[in-house]
Amino acid sequence: MSEKIRPNNREQLRVLISRARIARRVRELGRKITRDYKGESVLLVGVLKGACIFLADLSREISLDATFDFLAAASYGAAGESSGQVRLVKDLDTSIAGRNVILVEDILDTGVTLNYLVKLLRTRKPKSLRVAVLLDKADRRIQPIKVDYLGFQIPNDFVVGYGLDYAERYRNLKDIRVLSGEDS
Ligand code: IMP
Ligand code: MG
Repeated sequence: MSEKIRPNNREQLRVLISRARIARRVRELGRKITRDYKGESVLLVGVLKGACIFLADLSREISLDATFDFLAAASYGAAGESSGQVRLVKDLDTSIAGRNVILVEDILDTGVTLNYLVKLLRTRKPKSLRVAVLLDKADRRIQPIKVDYLGFQIPNDFVVGYGLDYAERYRNLKDIRVLSGEDS
């Protein structure tokens, strides 16, 4: 069983992506960002709460002048399902006008949340805007979105760990795990 966290009797947590694979991939992404923005500074915008661990690790693999900001979004609708209606719960603290912004998100599912956020940030006239996402469940996409820095494609399973939660739990697991059996 994983670390300190014990799932309910019926919940299973099988490792999908190990901490070592995550670390290797995050290092590659950080190096690519460092090359792509050579001589420039970047503003990493994390989507709370899920992206905070990915952003923390990714930022330390980027050898550039970098600053952080965070926002939070929520989608209306049934628990766990995107309804197509997104609203901003916490806005950025700083202006992004003229900045090289990298929007950092944990997982891309239907694409509804990231689409909303990309459109919103574009209206604020950044110098550039790119998207970094750790995990992509491409099968679930209902709104197309261009990802510039992708960690891993994953199957359509519900995953937790490394920032991702189920009902706010499991964010502190070191590996990315598939959660199953909670309803059975
Ligand atoms: P989208 O708007 O459908 O792309 O929703 C993306 C959001 O749904 C992510 O930011 C997560 O908060 C949540 N999400 C989607 N799939 C998972 C998952 O497998 N585990 C945990 N959260 C997920
Ligand atoms: Mg999220």
